[in-house]
Amino acid sequence: MNSSKLAKKIASRRTFGIISHPDAGKTTLTEKLLLFGGAIQLAGSVKARKAASYATSDWMAIEKERGISVTSSVMQFIYRDYTVNLLDTPGHQDFSEDTYRVLTAVDSALMVIDHNKGVELQTEKLMEVCRMRNTPVITFVNKLDREGLEPLEILTQIEDKLQIECVPLSWPVGMGKQFKGVYDLYRGQLHLFAPGRDRHPEEGGVLIKKPNDPLLDKLLGGPVADKLREDLELLAGAANPYEHQEFLRAAQTPVFFGSAINNFGVKELLDAFVELAPPPGCRPAEPRPICPEEEEFSGFIFKVQANMNPAHRDRIAFLRICSGSFSPGMKVWHQRLGKEVIMPNATTFMAQDRSHIAAAFAGDIIGIYNHGTIKIGDTFSTAKSAIRFSGVPNFAPEHFRRVILKNPIRAKHLAKGLRQLAEEGAIQVFRPLFGGEFILGAVGVLQFEVTVARLKAEYGVDADYEPAPYGAARWVSADEGKVMSEFAAKNQANLALDSDEHLTFLSESPWMLSRTMELYPRITFHKTREHC
Ligand code: G4P
Repeated sequence: MNSSKLAKKIASRRTFGIISHPDAGKTTLTEKLLLFGGAIQLAGSVKARKAASYATSDWMAIEKERGISVTSSVMQFIYRDYTVNLLDTPGHQDFSEDTYRVLTAVDSALMVIDHNKGVELQTEKLMEVCRMRNTPVITFVNKLDREGLEPLEILTQIEDKLQIECVPLSWPVGMGKQFKGVYDLYRGQLHLFAPGRDRHPEEGGVLIKKPNDPLLDKLLGGPVADKLREDLELLAGAANPYEHQEFLRAAQTPVFFGSAINNFGVKELLDAFVELAPPPGCRPAEPRPICPEEEEFSGFIFKVQANMNPAHRDRIAFLRICSGSFSPGMKVWHQRLGKEVIMPNATTFMAQDRSHIAAAFAGDIIGIYNHGTIKIGDTFSTAKSAIRFSGVPNFAPEHFRRVILKNPIRAKHLAKGLRQLAEEGAIQVFRPLFGGEFILGAVGVLQFEVTVARLKAEYGVDADYEPAPYGAARWVSADEGKVMSEFAAKNQANLALDSDEHLTFLSESPWMLSRTMELYPRITFHKTREHC
């Protein structure tokens, strides 16, 4: 493909993830976005699709029982001239390292906040990952059709709790029963609310182009119209002006208000999103950053999912393309193994269904089938010269369990199973320096249940757990070997090796961890660890 055609394809890509606390409306908003993209015809299809996928992944009865999806997925749709890749970040009890790692593959994030609840815990955690990576974030304040916090209160909360400057680009007129609509500050027009769950996005509502239009008084009533005009004046004077560079460096978040379920404020959001959110950019890699317009294809694996099809026992690895373009049958270098491989039938993720692809470009996600040779963090490229993308780390686990093997004869199988599951990123495995036991670490507790179920189903190992006396973990390093030896000598009981033999400090609690960090200022405690 010639370079200007490739550049055009890349410039039209928008790859993002939605982050939110459970129940804020992520699924509902996803569905509405897909509706605008023409990817689905009926509201309710995303939930239905999720339900249908349980039937095919019956290896994990947990999924069915709990009505949740253990795995995240990718949906591609076209909106206006843009190709949008939406990456789902698993939320409810299935919150896991995958949720964090999806954010390593996106170029921006959409944060959904329930305006009744304000900023909640999971949003804070996910925002921390966005901040770590300077990922630009757009905010959608949802459920304005219900009573909740005043818009200014929400903005203050976001600024205080998430340490990011807010710039309202839309403004609600009332809330709850009095919710009348959103004023689109980005385009300078008012969209009046017409409730209705099944309403098509383009239908309903009244559009008013100027705040001084007398129609506004007629439709809203004099006092409400005057209040809106007052709010707008106030905002013009007091709100931070939108600065694109500040948004791109994740110092500012544009804020939109609406009601996802009523499809209100969603179009304003999506229109602004495709225009403001960045296309794929250069990515950190060794020995040099890789930019999307480079001719050579390259990409990295951010997620490996087992047994999407239980009949085949295969795994699908999710690859984020970082440069160039992909075509089926292409020969690429599996950089970690130093081996050339053919990628025969990669999968794309058009929202309608998973289908084989003709071509994919930097910014897109493709799925590659494999039998366990691909690990999270692996780099693939058409260039033979060694490159390795960085920034796809392990995240420090917050929950811990000790593994009990019910039948000791299966010890070897247990070790093999745990090694493979750790490589896949399903769980983290630690071996304390003293004792032969396995300590498992996870970001979300469901990972433990999944691990035990998979050990049984895939490795024939009957295992169980006991509580482990830990509440926090950090990988440790020091500039001087002597400093590390001293630290290790005094903290042997709390040290373990992870599955890649990296020294890890397992602490009884977050408080003990802070205390240890204060005591050993020359030791670096890492919250993430890059894959090797
Ligand atoms: P999640 O993926 O972030 O967990 O949230 P989800 O979209 O499933 O939404 C959680 C609940 O909030 C759902 O209600 C959904 O209908 C509701 N909701 C989403 N957006 C809005 C909105 O703009 N206004 C109001 N009032 N409610 C909204 P549910 O009772 O759990 O499910 P359902 O029976 O409505 O499907």
